[in-house]
Amino acid sequence: MDDARPLLIFDTGVGGLSIVEPIRRLLPRAPLVYAADSAGFPYGEKSEAELTARVPALLGRLAERARPRLIVIACNTASVIALDPVRHALDLPIVGTVPAIKPAAEISKSRVMGVLGTQSTVRQPYVDDLAARFASDCVVLRHGSHELVEFAEAKLRDEPSEPAAYARILEGLFAQPGGDRLDTIVLACTHFPLVEHELAAAAPRPVAFVHGGEGIARRVAFLTEGQGWPEAAPEGRVIFVTEGPGDAPDARPFRANGFSEVELL
Ligand code: DGL
Repeated sequence: MDDARPLLIFDTGVGGLSIVEPIRRLLPRAPLVYAADSAGFPYGEKSEAELTARVPALLGRLAERARPRLIVIACNTASVIALDPVRHALDLPIVGTVPAIKPAAEISKSRVMGVLGTQSTVRQPYVDDLAARFASDCVVLRHGSHELVEFAEAKLRDEPSEPAAYARILEGLFAQPGGDRLDTIVLACTHFPLVEHELAAAAPRPVAFVHGGEGIARRVAFLTEGQGWPEAAPEGRVIFVTEGPGDAPDARPFRANGFSEVELL
């Protein structure tokens, strides 16, 4: 049976595209609506209180507009801060994106890993908890960077950024005590897999980069198992949350990734 209800993918900017890709590979017929909270960007520099108030209310409005079957919070910052309040507020399955510390602990040989996220993500107790549960025998170094979020946004708009700047950001992990043994880096912001090649090229030595995209796609497939999909996926829709009339976010990265219908909220 055909079921046209979409999956709603939510982030502040282009980061969620790193989650869209594995979802499309696993569920090629899934209709997708991408919601970008441009007015709230960047979440990485917002307080816990602001995000706990903003994200559940916004997702409620977006769910009314898009009528999704499931919501993917394709943003680590929103997930580690607001996953519980969102689940309480909405009567829909919610898949969060949290730092991939567990898979990183499964592969790290040196038992030293780095968590690279937004400033807001890396200071969260949620991250302490993941580290204690899944990487208790590892040293877990953390570094927050907003600049890297901007680099990912710029890359998808074909704007260049300096290789030296990536090296400087990585120094934030490698220069910490224990950083000389670091062998695995968790990309704990959905923007960062979009610049993984640049990070790998700038790293002082080869390290493994790990993120949650594939795991999230598998989780979505599991939660929608047995549900119908349209014969073929329709073109994607992107909804920008804007400051108000006159605010026109740049839709090019989304159009280039199959989101040709553009709406404003
Ligand atoms: N993509 C978001 C994340 O995964 C953060 C970007 C922002 O700071 O808004 O954390």
